[in-house]
Amino acid sequence: MGKFMVKGMEGGLRGRVQISGAKNAALPILAACLLTEECCEIRNVPPLSDVRHMVTLLRELGAKVDFCEEEERVLVQAEAIGQTESREEAAQKMRASFLVAGALLGRCGQARLPLPGGCQIGSRPIDLHLKGFQAMGVKNKQEHGFVELSAKTLKGGEIYLDFPSVGATENVMLAATLAKGRTVIQNAAAEPEICDLADFLRELGADITGDGTDTITITGVKKLCGASHAVIPDRIEAGTFMAAAAITGGDILLENAREEHLKPVIAKLAECNVKTELTAEGLRVYRKGKLHPIQLKTMPYPGFPTDMQAQFMSLMTMAKGTSVITETVFENRFLHAGDLQRMGADIKIDSRSAVIEGVEEMTGAKVRATDLRAGAALILSALAAKGDTEISDIYHIERGYYQIDEKLRRLGADIRRESE
Ligand code: UD1
Repeated sequence: MGKFMVKGMEGGLRGRVQISGAKNAALPILAACLLTEECCEIRNVPPLSDVRHMVTLLRELGAKVDFCEEEERVLVQAEAIGQTESREEAAQKMRASFLVAGALLGRCGQARLPLPGGCQIGSRPIDLHLKGFQAMGVKNKQEHGFVELSAKTLKGGEIYLDFPSVGATENVMLAATLAKGRTVIQNAAAEPEICDLADFLRELGADITGDGTDTITITGVKKLCGASHAVIPDRIEAGTFMAAAAITGGDILLENAREEHLKPVIAKLAECNVKTELTAEGLRVYRKGKLHPIQLKTMPYPGFPTDMQAQFMSLMTMAKGTSVITETVFENRFLHAGDLQRMGADIKIDSRSAVIEGVEEMTGAKVRATDLRAGAALILSALAAKGDTEISDIYHIERGYYQIDEKLRRLGADIRRESE
């Protein structure tokens, strides 16, 4: 297992950074490849451990998959589905593997998958996924840690999601694509990753409208073809580098970020006194004056993303004054606060809110990445802290950030990866 050794910086990050493809768009799109017997080429796929887990799972189900990591390209052909059951460890390791449920239901009318467990940031149930499937005529049975799904005829249905869950919206879209008739998802998630999945499904020949709004309509088709698709840039990786420029008082250019996906992050950075400028070459982010404190609430898109909450907490620890963060999406997503406190932060947690008093200085310490974005937040604080920080359990970070250490080094950071 690896760790990162980070030295606090004197000046800010400077230079250009290339943003990779979005992990959270690549995963459902790879699952969607199971819906067609023809060949799919997916480009701009980040070579991350989560993506490798999905590739392993697709192979277990009978798809031929060629992941050319250097070219960040995956070729998938699921000519036949060998089995609709996964025992694979990969399916247990990663919640997003449950997305193959929708694709298997669409293609074969059945699936048997390990129940995804809770994780550090919350219990993460799948009731909304199952509610959606049920409206499409799917029966489910849960025993021995598995969920068994089957439908005699998969038919379109009307689904109201109690919460605009990203995964449930994607799973229903996948199943509905080949179902009989029309499916309407109300209170659907509107994240850019949903639109990227819808774009890919349309390239395969699916009939989907309304993605990006709270009502998505899918009219089932008989068969899908193949396609070549490039995954959208990762807005959370982009936001993390923006926060890194902000916390170090740097000036960086994000080479292929999509400004329209980053509106809530840009708006909050502006309140923090961090400037962003869209130039012909990319999105420039810089800070000259002091960081200002803010009030922030995480919400489903287009609200402020929960996946950027930890990185903003790092920023807030160094803003002069009191900031308040309210986490409304996950019930237990302040795990990073303890480690930030070890580095000198003044943070009080009360249920779903965190009150942060800015401090003059953070200091390097030995800390541990407890989840993906918490780990990213620790790197940001380490860059702006005085002295050296050692971050362990970085496998969490590497699930979601491609070569984060190398990208930061190119921007002037002193960060080394060591094996533990
Ligand atoms: C996706 C993202 C993750 C992000 C999250 C919220 C991927 C692979 N992961 O996760 O990075 O943090 O969206 O933007 O795309 N819920 C239920 N019942 C369900 C499903 C969800 O109660 O059946 C709850 C969850 O416990 C959570 C909230 O809904 O509190 C949001 O979850 P959801 O939007 O489903 O997140 P994921 O799709 O798992």
